[in-house]
Amino acid sequence: MEENAEKPKFPAKFLLGAASAAHQVEGNNFHSDWWRYEQEGKLPKSGDAADHYNRYAEDFELAKSLGLNAMRISIEWSRIEPIENQWDENAIEHYRKVLRKLKELGMVRMVTLYHFTLPQWLAEEGGFETKKAGQALARFAWFIAKNLGDEIDYWITLNEPEIYAGAGFNQGVWPPFKKTKLLFYEVLNNLAEAHRLAYKSIKEVLPNSQVGIATNKVYLEPDSNLYLDRLAVRVAKYFSNNYFLNKLKNDFDFIGLNYYFYVRIKFNLKSLFAGRFLEMAHYISNKNGPSHSDMGVRTYPEGIYSVIEDLSVYKKDIFVTENGIANAGDNMRKRFILEHLAAIKKALDNGLKVKGYFYWSLTDTYEYLDGFDRKFGLIEVDFSNQKRRVREASDVFKEIGEVSNAI
Ligand code: BGC
Repeated sequence: MEENAEKPKFPAKFLLGAASAAHQVEGNNFHSDWWRYEQEGKLPKSGDAADHYNRYAEDFELAKSLGLNAMRISIEWSRIEPIENQWDENAIEHYRKVLRKLKELGMVRMVTLYHFTLPQWLAEEGGFETKKAGQALARFAWFIAKNLGDEIDYWITLNEPEIYAGAGFNQGVWPPFKKTKLLFYEVLNNLAEAHRLAYKSIKEVLPNSQVGIATNKVYLEPDSNLYLDRLAVRVAKYFSNNYFLNKLKNDFDFIGLNYYFYVRIKFNLKSLFAGRFLEMAHYISNKNGPSHSDMGVRTYPEGIYSVIEDLSVYKKDIFVTENGIANAGDNMRKRFILEHLAAIKKALDNGLKVKGYFYWSLTDTYEYLDGFDRKFGLIEVDFSNQKRRVREASDVFKEIGEVSNAI
C-alpha cells in the first residue's frame, strides 16, 4: 500500500527539510530555565539529549543523504547569553560551525531564535510575563544578526507562541507552571510585541532578510452540521488562525506553519458564557479508526490544505515549519509524510504560496513532558549510546526525487 501512495513532484526551489530545536537535541543546556526545573524534578531530565551539540556534523550528513535540501534548527539563547548582556564567544563560534556545515552540504538554513527555553536569568526576572523579555529578545536577535547573519537564510523569531503561552500560563504544565487566564493573554501580548521588536532589530542589520514566525495550527471541523457547531468552528478558527497573527501588524515576511492534527469542535454554551472560547474544542480520539500517532492524536493530512488556504489571507509565503508523527513502529510515517506532501502539492497547484516543508524531527528528541518516549525522528537515536539509525520511512524523500540544491 505504501508503495502505491502518491509521490508528488515539487518545483526546483522547494525546500524539503527537517526541523529540530536546540534544547530537544543538543544536551546539557544548563543555563536554561527548563534545565533548572529538570534538576528540581519538575520535568523529565534532558541530560545529553541526542548529543547533537557534538554530533551535528554526522546528523546533517545523514539529513543530506536522505535527500533533504534544508534544515530548521534553533540557536539556544541561554548558551549565547548565559548572563545578561554577556555574550559567549565560544557559543557563537559553535553555531557558526553548525551553520557552515549546512552550507557546505548545500542546505538552506532556517533558524529559530526562541523555541520554548529561556536563559535562566531572564526567567528569574519574569520572562515573557514582562515587557523586558521582548527587549531582551530584540537585543539577542540583533546580536545574532550582527554575528551570524550571513549564515542564516530564513529567520523564525518565536516558535509557537500560542502553545508556549497555553502550556506555561493557562494549563500550567510547562515552565513557569502558572494557571492564570489573564496572565495568559498578557503573555501572548508580550510575545507579539517581542516578535515585532526582534523583527525590527534583524531588519536594522539585514534589511533584505526573511523573517517569520512559526505558528501551530490544527484542522478544525464541526462536530455536526448544526449551525451552532459551525459557528463554534468559526470562533475557534479566529482564535487559532488570526488572533495572534493579527497582533503582528504585518511585521512578518512569511508564515511558518506547524501542523500536526485534527480537532473536532462542538458548540458549548457554558464555555461561551464563561468566555472560555478555546474550551469548545474537543479531541476526537477514535473516530472510525483512521490514523493515530503514539501520542494518541488523530492525524489528518488533508487538513493541511485547508489550514494553508486559511492562512493565505495574509498574502505571505508559507513554509510548513513542522509536521511529524510520533511512531516508534515506523509503520505510519511514510504514508503520513506522503499524504501531507500530496495535500501541499495540491495547494501549490491551486496557486497557494507554499515554499517548503520541514519534517519534525530529524532525529528522535527530548519531547518535553514525555521525556525520550516519543519517536518522531527520521533518524532513530539509541539514547543509551547515542547511535544513529536511519528509519526506513526516511527513504520517502529520495523517492519523491531530487528536489534541488536550493542554494
Ligand atoms: C513543537 C516541538 C515538539 C513537537 C512535537 C511542536 O509543537 O514545536 O518542539 O517537539 O511539537 O510534539
